Amino acid sequence: MTDQAPAAYSGPQRVLSGVQPSGALHLGNYLGALVKFARLQHEMDTFIFVADMHAITVWQDPKLLANQVREITAAYLASGLDPEKATIFPQSAVPAHAELAWIFNCVARLGWLDRMTQFKEKSGKHKERASVGLYTYPVLQAADILLYKATHVPVGDDQRQHLELTRDIAAKFNHDFEAPAFFPLPDALTQGPGSRIMSLRDGTAKMSKSDPSDNSRLNLLDEPDLVAQKIRKAKTDPEPLPETLDELKGRPEAENLIGIYAALDGRSSAEVLAEFAGQGFGAFKPKLAELAVEKLGPVGAEMRRLMADPAEIDRVLAKGAERAREAAAPTLAETRRLVGFWGA
Ligand code: TYM
Repeated sequence: MTDQAPAAYSGPQRVLSGVQPSGALHLGNYLGALVKFARLQHEMDTFIFVADMHAITVWQDPKLLANQVREITAAYLASGLDPEKATIFPQSAVPAHAELAWIFNCVARLGWLDRMTQFKEKSGKHKERASVGLYTYPVLQAADILLYKATHVPVGDDQRQHLELTRDIAAKFNHDFEAPAFFPLPDALTQGPGSRIMSLRDGTAKMSKSDPSDNSRLNLLDEPDLVAQKIRKAKTDPEPLPETLDELKGRPEAENLIGIYAALDGRSSAEVLAEFAGQGFGAFKPKLAELAVEKLGPVGAEMRRLMADPAEIDRVLAKGAERAREAAAPTLAETRRLVGFWGA
């Protein structure tokens, strides 16, 4: 693969990220992504979209899809994204994503995509039955990012490989079309204790929308009683909490619950351990439940309030789509010219 010094790009710093409207949003999405979006909008020009074109790589009921897009938008707003500051839009409302993705399909190499672990996980044992879209999905993700020349991409840890591919595509495009500083090589922002939240039922599996057990995750729309119940039922071990992070190794469930507490409270896991060292889960879990309800309760309530007025959400999305189309147009025009398309 090609490599190139990131310093070559000298355009403005921009944030871009997105979430798929393919199921209920959970604590992992919130801590790994949404909370970071709200923070970054104050630091840089920010584009946050709802990845509906990614969602249809697996079957989505057409009667539900638009409403799922509204629900993700409600989650963005309830987590503190301000549509006056950040551009919030549905991916499918900006056709340039698909156009750039096609060009990138011709830049990316089969060998690069063959290495993508998420495709292997999602396609399972029967990869010949997976959609072609699921296979080229990371190429569309690169187009999402580079269409806006984003330099910073806040995502959970599971997206890191897709970001590396994005950098490879950017570097190869810049090289092949002799435009060394055209696309930036974006950075994945995956720092912080919320970047890898694990299942409440199995500390070695990622908390995920697609886990068949609803007890494995805290959903943003769960009522407070249910949040508390899921934490009570969360898998743990019989040992008390240790004093240091090192002693947590080999205890994935304990490590995860401490990490969740830390991320919700804006502290480090080490600080949380210092507070609870020597205590058992009988004492720790009620404290965690209290904190989770305090932090997630208002988000869920605000999502419900916003979803009661879909017309207002649609206004936010329509305005964002217009701004996104304007921002995308010059990159696509210049890309077409570099590729040598007729009339470009
Ligand atoms: P998606 O919809 O699966 O997840 C949305 C965001 O939530 C993060 N996340 C987690 N973070 C911590 N712990 C977890 N257990 C956890 N589960 C999910 C994800 O890392 C992600 O940041 N491919 C992306 C959507 C996308 C995108 C993009 C993102 C499409 N184009 C361009 C950034 C830039 C996805 O499927 O996310």
